[in-house]
Amino acid sequence: MTSNRRMFLRQASSLGAGVLIAGSLPQREIHAAIQRTAAGPVVIASANGVGAVTRAMEMIRSGSDALEAVIAGVNLVEDDPKDHSVGYGGLPNEDGVVELDSAVMHGPTHRGGAVAALRNIKNPSKVARVVMERTDHVLLVGEGALRFAKAHGFKEEDLLTDEAREIWLRWKETMSTQDDRLPPHNEHTGAEEVGEFRVPERRAREVNPQQAAGLVPFSRLTGTIHCSGIDANGNISCVTTTSGLAYKVPGRVGDSPILGAGLFVDNDVGAAGSTGRGEANLVNCSSVMIVEYMRQGKSPEQACLDACTRIVDHNRMRRLKDADGRPNFDVKFYALNKRGETGAAGIFSGGTYALHDGKEVKLVPMAYLYKRPTAK
Ligand code: GLY
Repeated sequence: MTSNRRMFLRQASSLGAGVLIAGSLPQREIHAAIQRTAAGPVVIASANGVGAVTRAMEMIRSGSDALEAVIAGVNLVEDDPKDHSVGYGGLPNEDGVVELDSAVMHGPTHRGGAVAALRNIKNPSKVARVVMERTDHVLLVGEGALRFAKAHGFKEEDLLTDEAREIWLRWKETMSTQDDRLPPHNEHTGAEEVGEFRVPERRAREVNPQQAAGLVPFSRLTGTIHCSGIDANGNISCVTTTSGLAYKVPGRVGDSPILGAGLFVDNDVGAAGSTGRGEANLVNCSSVMIVEYMRQGKSPEQACLDACTRIVDHNRMRRLKDADGRPNFDVKFYALNKRGETGAAGIFSGGTYALHDGKEVKLVPMAYLYKRPTAK
C-alpha cells in the first residue's frame, strides 16, 4: 500500500468515511479526496487570544506552517505585561519568582517540545520549539531548561513586573499564615480590600490557605493561553503557554507543558488544549482524551464537554467540591478537527473562545456543564 493510500485510509476512518471507498479509488482521486477533506485555515485560542488568532491567521495566509503561526500568536500574550497568566507579567510563585511552563506540538511530524518551571525567559513557547527541534527529548525543566535556553541565545530578564509584584504582595499580606503583615483595610467596615479581591474577614488568614484561596475568584488563580491552528496545507499544530497557578509552590508544574494533558494534536484527527486548573488535567489526560473522542466521531464541542464530565466524575476529594458536590474550580477546553470544525467547553458557564474562521475573528460562547454560581 502506498503511503498516500495509507494516509487516506487513516484520514477517511478518522472522518467517519468508509475505508471501502478508498480501496477502489485510483491514486489521483485519493489526492482529490484528501484535498476535499482538508479544511481551510482556522485558528482557535482561549479568550485572551484574540490578538493571537489574528496574528496566527496573518502568518498562515502568508504561507507559514501552523506551528510557526500559533507560536507567533501566543508570543503576543507572553510579551504582554497586562496578562498576568502568561509570560512577562505573569503572577509569580509563593516566593515571588515567575516560573513558566509551555509546550508545542507539530501535527505533520507528530513531534513535541516543552519546558517547565523555566525562569527568566519571556517566551517559553519559543524555547519549547527549540527543545523539539534541537534535542532528542521532549521536556526540559528548571535549571536545565534555563541553561538550554541561554545556550540557544535566549536573553535572561526579570519577568516580575511591578504590577504582578504588587498583586503577589497583596496575596502574601492576606493569605499567608506564616507572617504578620497586614493589607490595607477599610477603617469603617474592618474589611480588607485588595484590588478586586475581597477578603471579608481577617479570620480568612487563619484558615487553610486552600480554603482562603477559594475566597478569590478562581479565574484569577489560573490563566494560560492555548492556541491551535490548521494551515493552508491542512496541517494542524498547537501550543499552550502559562505562568501557571498563581503563588504556586516553587517547582510546581501544571498541565500546560505536558503533552496529552494541556494540549495534544493528531494531524489526522484534530487538536485540543486547555486552560484552568492543571492538576485536574494531569490526572485525566484531558487533551488526548478530547482528540480520541473526536476520532470516535464526536464534534469538538461534545468532545470538550465529555472531558469536563470526566473531570467531574473523577473529582472525589471533598476539599475540591463545593457545597453542591460540584468542582470548586474550573477547567476550559478548546478543540478543532481536521474538517476545521471548532468547539469549546468549560465546567462552568460564562466562558468564550477566540476563533478566526478564515474570514473574521470572533469570541464564541462555549458550552458548559453547570451555571457558574453567583458570588455571595
Ligand atoms: N492550566 C495551567 C496550569 O494549571 O498551570
